[in-house]
Amino acid sequence: LNNGLGLTPQMGWNSNWINSYYLITYSWNYFACNINETVIMETAKAMATNGMKDAGYVYVNIDDCWAESRDKNGVIQPDSNTFPNGIAYIADYVHGLGLKLGIYTDAGTETCAGRPGSFGYEQIDAQTYASWGIDYLKEDWCNTGSNQPLSRYSIMSQALNATGRPIFFSLCDWGTDNPWEWGPTVGNSFRTTGDIKDNWASFMNNLNLQIPITSYSQVGGWNDPDMLEVGNGGMTTTEYISHFSLWSILNAPLIAGNDLRNIDQTTLSILTAPEVIAVNQDPLGKQGALVRSYNGGLQQVWAKPMADGSRVVVLFNTDSISADIQLEWVDIYVQNTATMTVRDLWARSDVGQYTGSYVSLNVPSHGCAMLKIY
Ligand code: DGJ
Repeated sequence: LNNGLGLTPQMGWNSNWINSYYLITYSWNYFACNINETVIMETAKAMATNGMKDAGYVYVNIDDCWAESRDKNGVIQPDSNTFPNGIAYIADYVHGLGLKLGIYTDAGTETCAGRPGSFGYEQIDAQTYASWGIDYLKEDWCNTGSNQPLSRYSIMSQALNATGRPIFFSLCDWGTDNPWEWGPTVGNSFRTTGDIKDNWASFMNNLNLQIPITSYSQVGGWNDPDMLEVGNGGMTTTEYISHFSLWSILNAPLIAGNDLRNIDQTTLSILTAPEVIAVNQDPLGKQGALVRSYNGGLQQVWAKPMADGSRVVVLFNTDSISADIQLEWVDIYVQNTATMTVRDLWARSDVGQYTGSYVSLNVPSHGCAMLKIY
């Protein structure tokens, strides 16, 4: 979307973490509405002070369950129990920390959790959000009947544009009607899958769904395979490092989905890894692609061209045992006679110089190596 936003994939946090945690055993609605202004403001404070803001995280996004009703003029009203001071109050606080505030609505008559939706109220809602100082809107797709995503999202896109306030527009139709084909014209990012859950199978499912659509993502309109589960406890540290590496090379939005108020050092070091984030935020904006598979896909080579002419690769081992993974220069459009430097982006150090190919030794089960070749 040509609104000046999303020139690199968005980085931030979304209140869905409660959803993701309980989804392992419960349905979304069981605890998903368990948010309030204190959680949001404490999270913003944590993001501003724990190193995440310095690493590039900027959006603090309130997901479903903040809205309660409409007044007689149709103006949306926040939940009076959980957001008693209103949303502008939170926006002021978040802006004071040097961060931006995101909010959530739904293109249908009700949100997925049964709160008021924006169907038929797009203009008044967009004006309301702008008046509160909102910087980001996620629009969900529940209770939309037989409507088409492109038509409904276009209405909100134009309504946001008409406010004159730059508001990042995040579409969330879960891949309905191939949003990668038309999403870049109406939104800054578009969900390409159903909800991610905090387990290996769900992460792999969402990853696999990206393979055929990598070429659609572009500056200002990013494929969104859903938020990060890093730190939520359902995967190992090795798996979370793979999750973060792959979301980075995919130019996915880096939206943390964990409890930032109680974050451990390991989780923080994954979420703030500077050379990994730099891959995601590279100004060239080319999404990484799967360029080679070994053993029926058990070992994978993902590659992405960078603005400085270098290539980044993720050597990913999905197998249940460790494996050596080979990178051939030809896979990344480099002549096999060339001598190249290999840099480990997690270790932040050069590995050495190689001619023609490189073998990453002992990539652990479910682990990866993330390398820059230059
Ligand atoms: C479905 C979306 O895909 C989720 O990310 C979340 O926003 C819930 N709806 C909220 O109801």
